[in-house]
Amino acid sequence: MQGFPLSKTPLATLLAAGILAATLLSPGPAVAAEPPGKALSEKHGLPWPAVVAHRGASYDAPEETIPAYILARDLGADYLEMDVQRTRDGVLIALHDDLLERTTNIAQVFPKRAKDPVSTFTLAEIKQLDAGSWFNKAYPDRARDSYAGLQILTLDEVIDIAEGGANKPGLYIETKVPNQFPGIEADLKKALAKRGWLGERPAAAAGQVNVAHMPGRVVLQTFEKQSLELLHKEMPSVPKVLLLWIGEGSIEPKSNVAFKDSGFKDKNSYYGAQEVKSPEAFQAWVDWAKAHGAIGTGPSAKLTQGGDQSYMDLVKPWMNTLTHEKGLVIHPYTVDDAVDFKKISTDGVDGFFTNRTAELLKFYERPAKESMETILKRNGY
Ligand code: G3P
Ligand code: CA
Repeated sequence: MQGFPLSKTPLATLLAAGILAATLLSPGPAVAAEPPGKALSEKHGLPWPAVVAHRGASYDAPEETIPAYILARDLGADYLEMDVQRTRDGVLIALHDDLLERTTNIAQVFPKRAKDPVSTFTLAEIKQLDAGSWFNKAYPDRARDSYAGLQILTLDEVIDIAEGGANKPGLYIETKVPNQFPGIEADLKKALAKRGWLGERPAAAAGQVNVAHMPGRVVLQTFEKQSLELLHKEMPSVPKVLLLWIGEGSIEPKSNVAFKDSGFKDKNSYYGAQEVKSPEAFQAWVDWAKAHGAIGTGPSAKLTQGGDQSYMDLVKPWMNTLTHEKGLVIHPYTVDDAVDFKKISTDGVDGFFTNRTAELLKFYERPAKESMETILKRNGY
């Protein structure tokens, strides 16, 4: 047992008190304790703290498209994050939603198939879709004419971008809705091996991002236990992260009231009120992750400003302490604002998934060398 309830006696407080007492009693100079996740990240060959460009630099360009990934790469992200799915003819593509409606013009191009899953479209059909104009409409303040007509990318095309600049970021790949794509874990292994990403890669020049040269050049992530097992079977030595959530198929909730019956007006407020049933229920997921090959967890975070990527608070200090004590690193999703970078870092995490690469780099005091405008213009956007 971990001596619960930890909320009444936070381990961080006890640790801090212990360090203070030891420092006061010690005759030597005070030495700041190294954050536990730093050593764990180093052990697994991961950068610390990690800047994971969630769907690319997706605040500033349409998610999982060429400009989003080029921006993330050239700004200096450690990882390009993507969600992989598979076309009907077997090609791995980078796309978040399992439907094409939100981020493409599917309703115009294939009106009768607008609600069909991605898995029913061939690559040639997918490539006919405009994956950029929705962004211009949704975010007129960040719109660019050059975003209209952008295509959905294949995994190979994202790898081309990762390899194509002076910075050499790694790849942080999620198997999305993997139950719709039997065998996708084996396909992913084949695809990564073919491109030489399962073995050593050349080092970047000094002063550039060099994550592709590190053992943690690829991190595999999933919400699904079965997919984690399959990823581990296919690629036992590649670092893996189990994404955490509260609800069916994930960590058991304290309350089983559904959103529609909850009285909350918006989903992010509902998510923000969700809690794990017990510390043991949380620990069970961390233990399972570790026992099945994960080197880390990807917990959701509740954001100060709310918004549609504000979820459950699974980065409470006791959760982070427990996870680190089990030997796992912590990369929460998806955090964009300085206020949350600061708060959640203080609570003890090892990097972030972020839509705003430039902001997180600034927070970590390694700001991008170029402006987004310069990078986009240089690349024809
Ligand atoms: O992969 C981490 C984070 O991306 C999980 O959420 O829905 O944005 O893929 P989602
Ligand atoms: Ca993802």
